[in-house]
Amino acid sequence: MTIIRKVRRLLKVIRKWFRNLIRPFLIYIKVKLGIPVRFRSPARDFLENTILPYYASQEDLSRVLFVGSDWYTIHYKKIFKPTVEYWTIDPEPKQARYGAKNHIVDYVENLDKHFDSGFFDIIFCNGVLGFGLNEREPADRSFGSCYSCLRKGGVFVIGRDETPGLLSFSVDELSSMHKFKPHQFAPCATGNYSLKPQHEYLYSFYVK
Ligand SMILES: C[S@@+](CC[C@H](N)C(=O)[O-])C[C@H]1O[C@@H](n2cnc3c(N)ncnc32)[C@H](O)[C@@H]1O
Repeated sequence: MTIIRKVRRLLKVIRKWFRNLIRPFLIYIKVKLGIPVRFRSPARDFLENTILPYYASQEDLSRVLFVGSDWYTIHYKKIFKPTVEYWTIDPEPKQARYGAKNHIVDYVENLDKHFDSGFFDIIFCNGVLGFGLNEREPADRSFGSCYSCLRKGGVFVIGRDETPGLLSFSVDELSSMHKFKPHQFAPCATGNYSLKPQHEYLYSFYVK
């Protein structure tokens, strides 16, 4: 290997190391300034470019819940019309800074303690299974609570990482899920949209 190649390789490593070092700082600054920060992945691109805009364009939408907040979800509220009441819920108090103006600090299991039955038109539960909501019982209670807080005809969207071994139970076997009916996500004409083989990720659509 020539000396020039060695130097180029070293510079590439230094650039990558430097990017990784300043990335959290850049994210912090952007969040503070209210600049949308995107976390790029095939699953998230599908959520942000297809799922959320599709439901945001529905005329009869008035109340939306997005479960779990993080630095890359701050701008989701802006996808919905200002007339839409956009809510978020997360049990971690420090995640509230990434949540909506209407934010609840609590587990989604307790959703029905905060809202009347039939309150929401749509609930998105993305990236929470296996990332905090890890056990069968809490997951069953959570989805039962989501069912109760959805209006009749309301839509429930679950986005989940399908990495083998991440979850020790099958979501579709939970008794709370049996109350929902499958729902066709019109843009893809399916109720289960898998990102495989690009990404071990699945979006499932249900209706109350
Ligand atoms: C990986 S992040 C996902 C954030 C976001 N929902 C998304 O689209 O990726 C997981 C978030 O879910 C929250 N979380 C974990 N268990 C939860 C539960 N039982 N109810 C509500 N949120 C929960 C965590 O605190 C964390 O902020």
